[in-house]
Amino acid sequence: MKIISLELNNFRNYKHAFAEFDDGLNVLYGKNASGKTNMIESIYLCSIFHSPRTTKDKEMVLIGEAKANINLILQKKYRKHSINLQIDEKGKKKILVDNIPLNRAGELFGVLGVVYFSPDEMKLVKESPQERRRFMDVGLSQQQRSYFYALQRYNKTLKQKNNLLKEWRNNKNIDSMLDVWDMGLAKEGAEIIFKRIEYVKVLNDAASKFHTAMSEAKEELRLTYECAADISDKNELKQSLYEEIVKTRAKDKELGYCTVGPHRDDIKIEINGKDSRKFASQGQQRTIALALKLGEVIIYKNEIGEPPVLLLDDVLSELDMQRQKLLLEMTAGFQTILTCTEFDMNEKANKIQISDGAVIPG
Ligand SMILES: Nc1ncnc2c1ncn2[C@@H]1O[C@H](COP(=O)(O)OP(=O)(O)O)[C@@H](O)[C@H]1O
Ligand SMILES: [Mg+2]
Repeated sequence: MKIISLELNNFRNYKHAFAEFDDGLNVLYGKNASGKTNMIESIYLCSIFHSPRTTKDKEMVLIGEAKANINLILQKKYRKHSINLQIDEKGKKKILVDNIPLNRAGELFGVLGVVYFSPDEMKLVKESPQERRRFMDVGLSQQQRSYFYALQRYNKTLKQKNNLLKEWRNNKNIDSMLDVWDMGLAKEGAEIIFKRIEYVKVLNDAASKFHTAMSEAKEELRLTYECAADISDKNELKQSLYEEIVKTRAKDKELGYCTVGPHRDDIKIEINGKDSRKFASQGQQRTIALALKLGEVIIYKNEIGEPPVLLLDDVLSELDMQRQKLLLEMTAGFQTILTCTEFDMNEKANKIQISDGAVIPG
């Protein structure tokens, strides 16, 4: 799929801007703080509904204005779509696809598919497990709305359970209610874990190939899903998860929150059998992060049958020449929107100059 055009009104530092994109490589270039990341953020919002860098949505409205508006036109395999997203001064978002308002954020998944890569993503390997869970959750939600809805149900139940656990100090009589929450958590949790296991398996195959190529076959990358429950037998997963949750109940009462379940799981990342989350050098971390992201691209394309749009924010400067070249080679065949301060590669590209919250006519 490809984005045809993007119009921004009162979004971040853009009063009004309009940009058109080509099929292949598009380069947003301009000085620091000109608005390149803001433009990438607006596209990401039209795909994932959440900003990749803030949870305070009202920050995205141009200071002094009441409402931000994003209009994106998208060409998919069989037809065109329009996505319209509005953010008001309270940070409330409204979204219309083909002029029809969506009732649930989850309905947006499956419209515009993106794979987003930024310097923050480079830290995927060493960051907290939360970032690696988010990586799986975004990848899976884009593939299957049912995953996103299971995650929502799980998180809601988890919140209720944690509230109850916090009450335990004053009210010791909570076990029968906990039984109810734990049953729900095991059910939704097992569904989430089940899908994540599959995802990590496919990701392992795709990412390890890229990694082997980038490390000149000296290193072998291995990804596995890490979980407190016994995941060796899928039929027993729900039961095993339930048992683990109940086993830690006493401890969780003391702590006031639930410590077992998919909200605590992780992707184990190894190179030649060594845990990269602890031991990888900075160079290795970047190579792995790049391999993971390229893997995400391949999985999306295979699952959905259409290539996602690649959003590469400021990543070239973080990579050496060899990896820069590999990344650009990989992006051939995908619509790519890339930001940088200066683009000095030989690649053919649609160059869009950004200056002070405006698109400079080229
Ligand atoms: N809500 C907002 N209203 C006005 N300006 C904003 C808002 N949010 C961010 N900015 C401005 O946007 C600029 C940063 O844009 P950004 O896209 O991150 O730059 P870059 O081109 O370096 O990626 C900063 O000058 C910041 O003050
Ligand atoms: Mg930037």
